[in-house]
Amino acid sequence: MKRLICYSVFLLALSAIFSSCRNNTGGVAGASDSTAKKGITKTAWGQSDSKDVFLYTLTNAKGNQVQISNYGGTVTHFIVPDKNGNKNSIVVGYDSLNGYLAHPPYFGALVGRYGNRIGNAQFTLDGKTYKLAANNGKNSLHGGIKGFDKVVWDATTVNDTMPLLTLTYQSKDGEEGFPGNLKVTVQYTFTDNDELKIEYNAVTDKATPINLTNHSYFNLTGDVSNTILNHTLQINADNYTPVDTSLITTGEIKLVKGTPFDFTTPMKIGARIDLVKGGYDHNFVLNSKGGSLQLAATLTDSISGRKLEVFTTEPGLQFYTGNFLDGKLTNHDGKPINQHSALCMETQHFPDSPNKPQFPSCILRPGSTYHTVTVYKVSVEK
Ligand code: GLA
Repeated sequence: MKRLICYSVFLLALSAIFSSCRNNTGGVAGASDSTAKKGITKTAWGQSDSKDVFLYTLTNAKGNQVQISNYGGTVTHFIVPDKNGNKNSIVVGYDSLNGYLAHPPYFGALVGRYGNRIGNAQFTLDGKTYKLAANNGKNSLHGGIKGFDKVVWDATTVNDTMPLLTLTYQSKDGEEGFPGNLKVTVQYTFTDNDELKIEYNAVTDKATPINLTNHSYFNLTGDVSNTILNHTLQINADNYTPVDTSLITTGEIKLVKGTPFDFTTPMKIGARIDLVKGGYDHNFVLNSKGGSLQLAATLTDSISGRKLEVFTTEPGLQFYTGNFLDGKLTNHDGKPINQHSALCMETQHFPDSPNKPQFPSCILRPGSTYHTVTVYKVSVEK
């Protein structure tokens, strides 16, 4: 009898440990402990290009966490509570480096040198034509074959008033066809208000297009088996940039009023998506016009009660409803990532800007510093 009791206690303890690991969303073991201390920790995560890769865990005063790898500057987990206080990750991601080495469609990645598309994979700058790799039909997408999402960044950390991760990368002159040695510094901080702040800086020694963004796929329920078509979105944009069949901007700037692109008031994402061929994958022209940090979009979800606000200094926002996701890849919890099971809000300059002089310029010249800021802020509405 005594043995039986001991055995049951042992089993109970085991199942408690197991379920607490699961509730903790499957980040690095123990990393999402709600009693975790504020600050930043580093875990060895393997190697790529013979360089060491690490996973950094940024914990704020509430014990909420963001995990980021220096492989591709990838945000792997963004762990915050729902309206019932249950914590899980609101971004699609993996627990190990291997998943990322298999090149998923930019899950959580830091995208560059040029986020989004460049038409016909070429552009002319100061009279010279530059040819890029066509990695998306005839177009260049997200920096080319080996963009900033697939390189190992140098990392330094600071444990100050906020956990801070600084990533740097030196992109060589000619890399992926782009001109100029570009030195990029990206700072990730996670504030006590559950704001993931991303600050991008770069300098170059030759004029170059540049468009850096983060490609996190959000599902505010924290469960990719719930469609994002039931999320509600507001975008502070009266205009958008229409695209052709290969998703290259036509050069027009059109009013959203009276179209399925009108998110100027909060709207269910699924309400009019059938009217948009292929789903939403469009750049919205923010009313702020860029320059100062302003609210670009607000996403809410009634299941979790979570709200996500996106602030940016960028003039554009790519709203992408995960149209190409097809269930073949699985999230960190083993659930298939189906079409519309996550969405992206990529702050940016407009797609194909290098070939569209009427759009805000994306050209960085020697002597100037590229500097943009984007903040993803999460809160709960009870
Ligand atoms: C971006 C593009 C999409 C798609 C995804 C990655 O968001 O706009 O068309 O290519 O990246 O799959």
